[in-house]
Amino acid sequence: MKKLQGKTAVITGGNSGIGLATAQEFIAQGAKVIITGRNQKSINEALETLGADAKGVIADSGDINQVKQLGEKVKAIAEKIDIVFVNAGIGQFNSTEQMSEQMFDDIMNINFKGAYFSIQQLLPLINDGGSIILNTSINAHIGMAGATVYAASKAALLSLAKNISAELLPRRIRVNSVSPGPVVTPLHTADKLGLTQEQLEGMGSELVKQIPMGRFGLAEEIAKTVTFFASDDSTFITGAELIADGGMATLKGA
Ligand SMILES: NC(=O)c1ccc[n+]([C@@H]2O[C@H](COP(=O)([O-])OP(=O)(O)OC[C@H]3O[C@@H](n4cnc5c(N)ncnc54)[C@H](OP(=O)(O)O)[C@@H]3O)[C@@H](O)[C@H]2O)c1
Repeated sequence: MKKLQGKTAVITGGNSGIGLATAQEFIAQGAKVIITGRNQKSINEALETLGADAKGVIADSGDINQVKQLGEKVKAIAEKIDIVFVNAGIGQFNSTEQMSEQMFDDIMNINFKGAYFSIQQLLPLINDGGSIILNTSINAHIGMAGATVYAASKAALLSLAKNISAELLPRRIRVNSVSPGPVVTPLHTADKLGLTQEQLEGMGSELVKQIPMGRFGLAEEIAKTVTFFASDDSTFITGAELIADGGMATLKGA
């Protein structure tokens, strides 16, 4: 029996990386999926990969006017939904001394404000008994130079998940968080992280040293963790977090 048979899911930032892998896993488990993204070309490419059970809508999570149209756009495709994976996000890093107001606002607007108001938009469409999963980060738990604002945006999501899960008890909508450690995705490119190739390689080898399993995670591994929270395998779990980080936050390397 497929775990998400008959369910409809919305995945923000579903055209790439963890979001795309989760869309593939949800579809493999019987769901229909609506992905959001900020770029029509990227969405179209993802839809070609995902096939007939996927649809796409444009919603730039950093633009509140676009986010405020998300509910209507999704409703035009599906009257009701069961699962929301709040995943769209950027990773940008700089020291506190060098942090610009622009970078601060970009990170907070996309990772937190956009996530918050996307949930607000989608709540009326979610069937009672549904599931919301927030993609946070191991950075919400560990200290890392350059990560102040990114980590704060993800810590804000963790707090949001705990508090909104209390609000949604009467509707039996569960809200949980998945906090990945470093994962191989297009996020780890010099362009997306705003680093030189040399800085990127340096950061990659430093990160691997901090992961007791000795490797980055795979997007497919995070997708299966998200599917656990999306499915009836986790019906007695709400306001909780699963850390998927190869032991980075809790173990010491052997
Ligand atoms: N990879 C990791 O090591 C790691 C670790 C912990 C947490 N995470 C979190 O996992 C999530 C997914 O990241 P990923 O690693 O899969 O990276 P990714 O491949 O870059 O995917 C990020 C997705 O979010 C979308 N997105 C970014 N800004 C957006 C905006 N303003 N509006 C709408 N969509 C937007 C991206 O669209 P574009 O393709 O247009 O950029 C893309 O679809 C992020 O929230 C990230 O913080 C990643």
